[in-house]
Amino acid sequence: PRKIIIDTDPGQDDAVAIMLALASPEDVEVLGIVAVAGNVPLALTARNTLIICELAGKPETRVFAGCDRPLLRPLVTAEAVHGVTGLDGPVLPEPTIALQDQHGVDFIIDTLRNEPSQTVTLCALGPLTNLATAMQRAPDIIPRLQQIILMGGAYFEQGNVTPVAEFNIYVDPQAADIVFKSGVSIVVMPLDVTHKALTTPARIAAFRALNTEPGRLVAEWTDFFERFDKQKYGSEGAPLHDPCVIAWLIRPELFEGRHINVEIETTSELTMGMTVADWWRVTDRKPNALFVGSLDADGFFTLLAERIGRL
Ligand code: BDR
Ligand code: CA
Repeated sequence: PRKIIIDTDPGQDDAVAIMLALASPEDVEVLGIVAVAGNVPLALTARNTLIICELAGKPETRVFAGCDRPLLRPLVTAEAVHGVTGLDGPVLPEPTIALQDQHGVDFIIDTLRNEPSQTVTLCALGPLTNLATAMQRAPDIIPRLQQIILMGGAYFEQGNVTPVAEFNIYVDPQAADIVFKSGVSIVVMPLDVTHKALTTPARIAAFRALNTEPGRLVAEWTDFFERFDKQKYGSEGAPLHDPCVIAWLIRPELFEGRHINVEIETTSELTMGMTVADWWRVTDRKPNALFVGSLDADGFFTLLAERIGRL
């Protein structure tokens, strides 16, 4: 299995991604999960992460709190999408497990220094603040990273928080800029692919039909998500953005993408956080990311139901 650190801001779709990872020990070994401020403030994303690990039946998972705000810009949150708790939908219990004492950024740095070089992959499901802070504070970890798989950005799909910016990149564009310039191998799951990971009544019913507590939770979280997307975009299903990151590690053959150059807009207020993706290779800028664009959605949802069914 590949050793991974999950960096996250749960978020219903983050929750499904975490459950998918925790259900897949033959593919990924979760060394720890670090919360970041994003969909809701850090106190809530950290708490939600604890709840998710417990509900997945994996209370031994180490959970850390990372940064509580973006590098330079004020925090922008997304309660309109995820609800005030960030994990609205089903009624959830109080967590009984506790956060680790260590700061999440120190955990990332220590892990990358202690594990053999090029054996740890970072899976980022929220703004990139923790990872960029770790890279700034300890540049020696950069060549030690095996890969970064992240959900963020958009190209043909444009933005979901401004006309051109996707939420995770928009919240901390300076952090994204540091990560995209780092030289580490990066795989990006932009809206172009996550908008193909759409729930349907049958796909949600398949989670419910698992007849397990995690299955019921995933069904209720996706139900909650759908309500918003129907109202806002008139779309039939809701995109399960973040699980694409974990699914890529398990079944990369479900996805297709291109190695291209991606730069992050960090100065213009109008286009702040835009991922300027050279899809048609019209510049001679060197490719720095595998930008994923297509997905076998049926295969993706089959994988999800099969793995969540194990928990
Ligand atoms: C991303 O933003 C968050 O709201 C989701 O959890 C996902 O990571 C989609 O733009
Ligand atoms: Ca997220």
